[in-house]
Amino acid sequence: MKRSEIRNILIAGGGMMGKNIAFVFSSVPEFRITVYDIRPTDVRAGVRLNCAQLLEKGVLSPEELEARLARIDFTEDLDSDSVRNADLVVEAVFEDMAVKRETFAKLEARCRPDTIFCTNTSVMSPSEISRELTHRERFVGTHFWNPGHLIPLVEVVRSDATSDETAQTVMEVLRDAGKKPVLCRKDVPGFIANRMQHALWREAISIVENGIADAETVDMAVRYSFGLRLPQLGPLENADMVGTDLTWNIHDYILGALEDSHRPSPLLTELRDEGKLGFKTGEGFRKWTPEETAASAAELNEYLIRMLYGK
Ligand SMILES: NC(=O)c1ccc[n+]([C@@H]2O[C@H](COP(=O)([O-])OP(=O)(O)OC[C@H]3O[C@@H](n4cnc5c(N)ncnc54)[C@H](O)[C@@H]3O)[C@@H](O)[C@H]2O)c1
Repeated sequence: MKRSEIRNILIAGGGMMGKNIAFVFSSVPEFRITVYDIRPTDVRAGVRLNCAQLLEKGVLSPEELEARLARIDFTEDLDSDSVRNADLVVEAVFEDMAVKRETFAKLEARCRPDTIFCTNTSVMSPSEISRELTHRERFVGTHFWNPGHLIPLVEVVRSDATSDETAQTVMEVLRDAGKKPVLCRKDVPGFIANRMQHALWREAISIVENGIADAETVDMAVRYSFGLRLPQLGPLENADMVGTDLTWNIHDYILGALEDSHRPSPLLTELRDEGKLGFKTGEGFRKWTPEETAASAAELNEYLIRMLYGK
């Protein structure tokens, strides 16, 4: 199916991600979006709540928000016209292989054979999720990042059967909706960005575990050094900037000293086993008051809005 043929978008699962994904697509005036969920969900109220900071900062006007909300409907009925007529489906149900497979089996029985199927799985394999489908060529991963209405990246992940046309159409749809899609050519755990993110987290935990620095210091070292440059300068542009010869010399010296464990660290295991679960329980790598945990989420959104919209 081509980009020009996409009009009706179905979001399966109206939770945190589903609502934000619906909002993202509502930026394209020609799209009609329907959110399907097994539970009655006030999607428009949820989107309004998520957009409070965008309104407050003047990134979005109240009129614009209302116009976008008018393009978003909700259904609990899998046999409705909005399911039958969907040109593109984005699934954002629970992160559970059986639930996702069952959802797509039901959708395949109702949608056209060329309806594009996308899964917003965070970590599961699109090839595995689509294994039982008849038309696997129209299936692709679309990994939105949380908060989905703010973070621009969407990883478009090819399964072992995704067609070129499907991948291309989905990239174009996402670009038109204001996202920055990137194509992940292979269905590998962590896709592109989480592989890098968790390589960094593994090293950060290892530094604490080995007594090199405490958790607060590790976070400071990132926030006030390469973390500041990252939105402007990716690691490979940076490597080219300093030279591949210098990068080679540094790697030759340092790589043997870095953490390369293939298991979650003993420190992380200990924290989990002791119920030190982070914000949820008030202690993880560090101690957290309820005020600090509330401020952290609000400040992150404010920061993202400032970075992305200059407001
Ligand atoms: N939360 C994140 O940070 C994040 C980021 C990227 C991707 N994801 C992925 O997005 C998906 C959704 O995550 P979320 O955080 O929005 O979860 P959530 O729990 O907020 O929402 C899931 C929704 O799916 C609905 N649902 C469950 N079974 C269903 C079914 N059979 N048919 C229709 N609806 C069904 C639930 O009622 C719920 O409203 C997951 O696959 C998750 O891994 C989450």
